[in-house]
Amino acid sequence: MGKLEGRVALVTGGLRGIGLAIATRFVAEGAQVLIADLDAAGSEAVGETVAALGERAAYISANVTDEASWQGIADHMRDTYGAAHILVNNAGIDLTGPVETLSLEAWRRIMAVNVDGVFLGTRALVPLMAQSGAGVAGGASIINISSIMGLVGYSEVSAYNASKGAVRLFTKGIAIEFATKRMPIRANSLHPGFVKTPLLNAGFQRWVDKGFAQKPEDLVAAMEAATPIRRLAEPSELAGPALFLASADASYVTGAELVVDGGWTAQ
Ligand SMILES: NC(=O)c1ccc[n+]([C@@H]2O[C@H](COP(=O)([O-])OP(=O)(O)OC[C@H]3O[C@@H](n4cnc5c(N)ncnc54)[C@H](O)[C@@H]3O)[C@@H](O)[C@H]2O)c1
Repeated sequence: MGKLEGRVALVTGGLRGIGLAIATRFVAEGAQVLIADLDAAGSEAVGETVAALGERAAYISANVTDEASWQGIADHMRDTYGAAHILVNNAGIDLTGPVETLSLEAWRRIMAVNVDGVFLGTRALVPLMAQSGAGVAGGASIINISSIMGLVGYSEVSAYNASKGAVRLFTKGIAIEFATKRMPIRANSLHPGFVKTPLLNAGFQRWVDKGFAQKPEDLVAAMEAATPIRRLAEPSELAGPALFLASADASYVTGAELVVDGGWTAQ
């Protein structure tokens, strides 16, 4: 029997990368998984991705920065499944650039997706999660995807640093709020290191375009050399830690930060 049998999960940004790896693992562990992402429902990418996940996966088109999208998700989960046990606020964007040339528009965009999205998702689903969490071992679980960049600073990543640091402390705030009010919802942040996804690849390409390296492979080699485990993570290596936080195995874990970075921040 899977560790998430009978549970309903929402994964934002679940069409690719870390979100897709988490959705895949949750389905394999018995959960019903609803993916929310930007693509239109019925598009080729959505059709293929959701079909590959099997019958217990479904898709809803949503922009996490949009309040109305979140109302739609909450209504859909209540009407279709009558429950929400797990929320993975995974959708995120990165952005690099020196602070003195960073536009206010770019700053606001990253805050909108990475911070507003996490807040809006939490607010929208907490009423249903509080009801649903009472019926499962370990309670309901919110997993907010922060980053190692939410723990330490990095050159030319200040906006991303700020957004992921906000996710980290927002998570601790709600964890204490729910525990104090005896609401059956745990909340934890997950902090990936460098993970082989389209987001990381796009970031490497931007650094190449700026002339910081000749080719993306040079940057991969540099990141590997800077990581004690000496390699980048596969997206699937984030799925197990997310499963732990989602399941009853983590029944006493709330307000914690789980770092999955091959030792990068331990140095
Ligand atoms: N890849 C890494 O090295 C790394 C490291 C640390 C943290 N993270 C974090 O992990 C999360 C996932 O990253 P990834 O590397 O898988 O990214 P990715 O770009 O490969 O995938 C992100 C997904 O989120 C979706 N998305 C983006 N904006 C959205 C919005 N406004 N509404 C709904 N969906 C939206 C995208 O369409 C995409 O499917 C992000 O929060 C990212 O900051 C990634």
